[in-house]
Amino acid sequence: MDKQTVSELFNQAFKREPQVVTYAPGRVNLIGDHTDYNNGFVLPAAIDMGTYIAARKRDDNEIHVIASDINGEKLSFGLDTISFDDQIGWGHYVKGVFQALLSHLLSQENQRTGKVNIQGCDLLISGTLPQGAGLSSSASLEIALIKAITELFGFHLEGICAALIGQQAENVYVGCNCGIMDQLISALGQDRQAMLLDCNDLSYRYAKIPDNLRLVIVNSNVKRQLVGSEYNERRQQCNEVAKFFNQSSLRGVSLQLLEAGKSDLSERLYRRARHVITENVRTERAFDALGQGDIVLMSQLMADSHASLRDDFEVTTPEIDYLVSSLSSAIGSSGGVRMTGGGFGGCVIALVPHRLLDTVRVVVERDYFKQTGLKADIYVCSAKAGAFS
Ligand code: GLA
Repeated sequence: MDKQTVSELFNQAFKREPQVVTYAPGRVNLIGDHTDYNNGFVLPAAIDMGTYIAARKRDDNEIHVIASDINGEKLSFGLDTISFDDQIGWGHYVKGVFQALLSHLLSQENQRTGKVNIQGCDLLISGTLPQGAGLSSSASLEIALIKAITELFGFHLEGICAALIGQQAENVYVGCNCGIMDQLISALGQDRQAMLLDCNDLSYRYAKIPDNLRLVIVNSNVKRQLVGSEYNERRQQCNEVAKFFNQSSLRGVSLQLLEAGKSDLSERLYRRARHVITENVRTERAFDALGQGDIVLMSQLMADSHASLRDDFEVTTPEIDYLVSSLSSAIGSSGGVRMTGGGFGGCVIALVPHRLLDTVRVVVERDYFKQTGLKADIYVCSAKAGAFS
C-alpha cells in the first residue's frame, strides 16, 4: 500500500482525483503501559504500518466516507448534524474527529487566530495495520484524518494539538478513556527513535534505537477490545487510589506513600497502583538504557514491566504470557520482550538482534501454535516519523 494506490482507489470510488493523500503511523510501546492516563511516562515508537486517507472537497456540507479495507463500507453524514448511536464502529472515530476538530476551531483560543472554514468532503480510508491488535489503528486513523482536514482546508495545527483532538474524539465520542500516548506518537514519532513522553506536561525527548535491533511485533491474534472492556475499569481503580491520597493522579503518589497507606487500601487497588508507580521508574530508566545502548538493563526492565502488568495490573492473557516467556528464552539479555499496549490479548513487542530473527520466527510459528492452537503473526518493523513531525 502506498499513496499512489490509495489515490487510485479514491479515483475508482469517487470518479475524481483526491486533492490530498495523508498518512499516519500506528505505534508500538517499548515500555510504560497504563501509565499515560496516570500522568506518567511512556516510551513508544511510531512504526511502518499505518492509515492512509485520500480526500477531496465537496461543494456542500456533507462528509462521504468509504472504508476500503472494511468491505468498502460507506458512511455519509452532514457536518451540521453529527449524531452518534450505540453501535460503535469505525464511523464513530470519523465523526468523533470532525466533532472534536469543529469544537476546537470554535474555541476561544482559535478565534484569535482567525476563522477556519471546514466544508464537506469525500474521504477514502485504507491502511496496513491489523485492526484490534493493539497497534493503534484507531489513533492512526484519527491523526491521518486530522492531517487530511488541515491540508484540505489549508490551516496549521501543532502535533500536540492534533493528538489532543484525536484523544478527545475517542474519549468523548467513542467512549474509550484512552490516554494521550497513541495519538501523540502517531503525530510526532521520529525515524529510528523511541520517544520518552511525560504525560504530565506533554514534554518529550527521543532516544535512538540501536541499529542492530529490530522491533519485532508478535500479534497473538487473541482479539481484544478496549471500549467497554476492563480498560476503563483499570483507569477508574487508579483514580480511586490517587483520590485516596488526595492527588489528582498517581503521578503524585510515591512508592513510600503507597506503602504507608497500604493497610487502608484493598489488596487489588494497592497492586494496581504499585504497577503504575514502578512502571514510571522503569520507563525513565529504559530511556537512558536505550540511549546508552545498555541492552542488558533494557532487557531486565522489559521483563519486570511484563511481570508487573501480569501480576499487579492483571491485563495479560495466558497466550501472551506464553509468547513472552518463550521469546525471552530465545532472546536472553541481547534484546527484550514484553506485552505492549492496553493488554487483554493483542501484541507482544520484542527488541531482537538481527542474528536472532530466524530463531524468534521458529518460536512464534511452531511453538506458539503447538501451545495455543492459534497462529501468531510477526511484523518486523522499524521506527518511523509521525504525521506531524
Ligand atoms: C491503549 C490506550 C493508551 C494507553 C495504553 C496502555 O493503547 O489507547 O492510551 O493507555 O492502552 O498503555
